[in-house]
Amino acid sequence: MCGIVGYTGKKQCRDILVNSLRKLEYRGYDSAGIAVMEDGHIKTVKAKGKINDGLIVKLSESGELNAVTGIGHTRWATHGEPSDINSHPIGNSRVSIVHNGIIENYRKLKNFLIGKGYKFESETDTEAAAKLIDYYYNGDPVDAISKAVTDIEGAYSLGIIFRDFPDMIYAVRKDSPLIVGIGDGEMYIASDMTALLEYTKKYYLLDTGEIASISAKGAVICDLHGNKINKEVQTATWDVSEAEKGGFEHFMLKEIHEQPAAVRKTISPRIKDGLPCFDECGLTDEMIRGYKHIYIIACGSAMHAGLIGKYIIESLARTPVIVDIASEFRYRNPLLTADDLVVIVSQSGETADTKAALELANEVGADTLALVNVVGSSIAREAKMVMYTYAGPEISVASTKAYMVQSAFMYLLAFRVALARGRITEEECRELVAKLETMPDLIAECLSDLDPYRRSASRLVGADSLLYIGRGLDYALSMEGSLKLKEISYIHSESYAAGELKHGTISLIDDGMPVIAVATQRDLLAKTISNMREVKTRGAYVIAVCPKGVSIDSESADDIIEIPSADDMFMPLVAVVPLQLVAYYASVLRGNDVDKPRNLAKSVTVE
Ligand code: AGP
Ligand code: GLU
Repeated sequence: MCGIVGYTGKKQCRDILVNSLRKLEYRGYDSAGIAVMEDGHIKTVKAKGKINDGLIVKLSESGELNAVTGIGHTRWATHGEPSDINSHPIGNSRVSIVHNGIIENYRKLKNFLIGKGYKFESETDTEAAAKLIDYYYNGDPVDAISKAVTDIEGAYSLGIIFRDFPDMIYAVRKDSPLIVGIGDGEMYIASDMTALLEYTKKYYLLDTGEIASISAKGAVICDLHGNKINKEVQTATWDVSEAEKGGFEHFMLKEIHEQPAAVRKTISPRIKDGLPCFDECGLTDEMIRGYKHIYIIACGSAMHAGLIGKYIIESLARTPVIVDIASEFRYRNPLLTADDLVVIVSQSGETADTKAALELANEVGADTLALVNVVGSSIAREAKMVMYTYAGPEISVASTKAYMVQSAFMYLLAFRVALARGRITEEECRELVAKLETMPDLIAECLSDLDPYRRSASRLVGADSLLYIGRGLDYALSMEGSLKLKEISYIHSESYAAGELKHGTISLIDDGMPVIAVATQRDLLAKTISNMREVKTRGAYVIAVCPKGVSIDSESADDIIEIPSADDMFMPLVAVVPLQLVAYYASVLRGNDVDKPRNLAKSVTVE
């Protein structure tokens, strides 16, 4: 995905656009640019690379800009390599646009436009949209936009400026997110409110098929037929400080430290009289009793949280849980029926694959429950039921507090399902909820001394590849640990069921190869320890993550990260913290950009 911003008002727009783009760099940072209205012309400054590496340099070379209206973009490339020419804004002397999404039929549109005499400079799909708007433009921007998007197939949010309307910005979206910020005598557009919190907390949510015509005085929003639409003013619940680093070196470290509070904020409002309460979303015990299966569909870390949910729900409620990667689920013609519940998990609420899976579930007629962190996000709006995680903005690309609160929520869901289906009594349920409520303190205890994680990370930095192993919940958790390490340190790793190693993968073990053994499940501990010994005797350097009080000898592990002890069932909420921090320090030690790792973006709003 990428970040889109726009401004029109009384102030010089250049610094507002750049400052807002900085807040959205986590959405993509292959290139950045702005286009402003100056002296009746569209002036574009854009460059490959992050804002500080490219755009800022180009702006310093381009001299002062005198402009109060403009748009900006920070890119995550999908079509056309990161380069100056493929950077946004893209257009011509009459129209310039910034785009988030994919124009799926861009080749067809491009061929049509070339046939009409248009020339193309970039390799992007976006340029086809820009030139199509220009093609339809006959003095009426809304008409041109409406005709162009009618021809466009795919997902997009567009910020648009027209030379003939120097005090206006326009916006239109289909699937990709876009909001209209409301200031006092000035107006904004942005991909999400993180960009605007220091300017305003008030905004309109633009819906699919709506066009916004925005001047300093306000926005007129209409549908593709020009019919005006009245929109409710929304107010962001986050404040600027939550979207800043707060003294931490990286957002990731800050967000790891926010986990205890995030868990409390997410679970406490859903506990009434000591029991899990889903009244806010309308999920009743009667509905729960009627479900034949529970599907948990998500991507990446959100899917890993679903795996934790699977283990807990199936062990307590004996209800079949199918966890699937959204991009697989939507194309495998799943055996989903209207008698199932589909839980859709997404921090951003905009992940294209996850959103498509939700749409499939809605088509089948299954009940859908969205668990999202961003209020008013597309997934939140399209699901039958929605519960928000209250983790606050997660800026770092690597999911930490979002994964944590998603996992914590799975416990509440599991307890409610088990209670509703008569598998546990209210008293047993209250006991489980009370234990869950103690977890934030144990998570916080893991953060009291970071040295063990730095030490262990230093053993990984030189590795070409390593394994994460575990059994049961530890196996589910090892997947999250492996993903964290890969995505921010660029060290290859693979999570593997510890009991499965001997069926082939153990051949990879080489002298000094790091193996991180997650060993928190006491009922499986003896087996996990034997697997640790299997790899250690073959030369592996074994780092064990285990609860205090569990004895693991030097024949089984070279390094032990001890964590606070809780019932086995709850250990994933504690054990994930060392895995997050080992990955964090490995990335730092490798000199990587921890919060903005290469090739990635915070939310993948394209397929
Ligand atoms: C996790 O660290 C990654 N950033 C990524 O796997 C992420 O969890 C995934 O893209 C899902 O994002 P979502 O929760 O916003 O849908
Ligand atoms: N598809 C457009 C491009 O590759 C936009 C990608 C994005 O959403 O960042 O430039």
